[in-house]
Amino acid sequence: MECIKNIDWNEVWTWQTYKHSECRNSDDCTSIWEDKENARKFWQMSSKNDHERSRKIISSIPITQDSNVLDIGAGPGSLAIPLCKIARHVTAIEPSAAMLEVLRENVEEHECNNITCVEKKWEDVNIETDLSGPYDIVIASFSLGMPDIRKAVETMQAVCSGQIYLYWFAGDRPWDPYARELWPLHHGKEYHSMPKCDTLYNVLYQMGIYPNIETMSFEQNETFSSLDEAVEHFGGHMGMKTAQEKEMLGRYLSDKLEKENGTFVHKSLSNRVRIWWNTQEN
Ligand SMILES: C[S@@+](CC[C@H](N)C(=O)[O-])C[C@H]1O[C@@H](n2cnc3c(N)ncnc32)[C@H](O)[C@@H]1O
Repeated sequence: MECIKNIDWNEVWTWQTYKHSECRNSDDCTSIWEDKENARKFWQMSSKNDHERSRKIISSIPITQDSNVLDIGAGPGSLAIPLCKIARHVTAIEPSAAMLEVLRENVEEHECNNITCVEKKWEDVNIETDLSGPYDIVIASFSLGMPDIRKAVETMQAVCSGQIYLYWFAGDRPWDPYARELWPLHHGKEYHSMPKCDTLYNVLYQMGIYPNIETMSFEQNETFSSLDEAVEHFGGHMGMKTAQEKEMLGRYLSDKLEKENGTFVHKSLSNRVRIWWNTQEN
């Protein structure tokens, strides 16, 4: 047990991220979002079923018309677009070209003239030339695909004069149980998911940050118009991309998904956390 005090939790996070990347056949957490159809589907979900999630996130953050906000991993703008309507300025960091294209379409459609988009991974951002801090509020919502999370948080702290909000998973993500069952059948080895909020909390704790944590359960109904559409969606998340993998996934999903009026529905209940702290107090 002595060895517990020597654990470097950032190394644990990095290792878990690496093991997960191996399972997804990709060393990059943004690759799934490089497909414009996935990006569009994510936006459609955000503005319909998922709307409640965005609304809850935004209403629980003290944003005013004077706030300068940084949204890291903004995706299609699920938060950035509604945030623009409240805040003075929003800087949206988004490395995926497809997500950024959808975000830019949404910026135009919603006539947001107070948003700056930066097409980079957070790790690659130059805080002097790419950003216009300090930021009153920094948000990273389900975008922590960052192998060196300690460094990523240090950079967030360097540009934040107010509060940092991280949203992440507690326990299984909606597709984790499927992946855990299918991966060993197909690859003969264990499936590794992304690191979860327990590792994140330990990293923050070792950095001397003692954040507030709130757990929320999140009920989600994802509807797919065809089995192929469901296969593309889950295959992307689970790194099942070859014809053989997709065929196996299709057979599996046709058993698992509920059929409703010719559509395929994935019903899930997952737990998410909001981890936040005031940079002036920590
Ligand atoms: C699940 S989406 C979340 C989008 C939005 N934040 C939300 O809550 O609806 C995750 C987004 O994070 C981005 N992302 C992943 N890793 C990132 C990184 N290292 N730096 C910045 N963004 C990243 C992805 O490209 C993707 O658009």
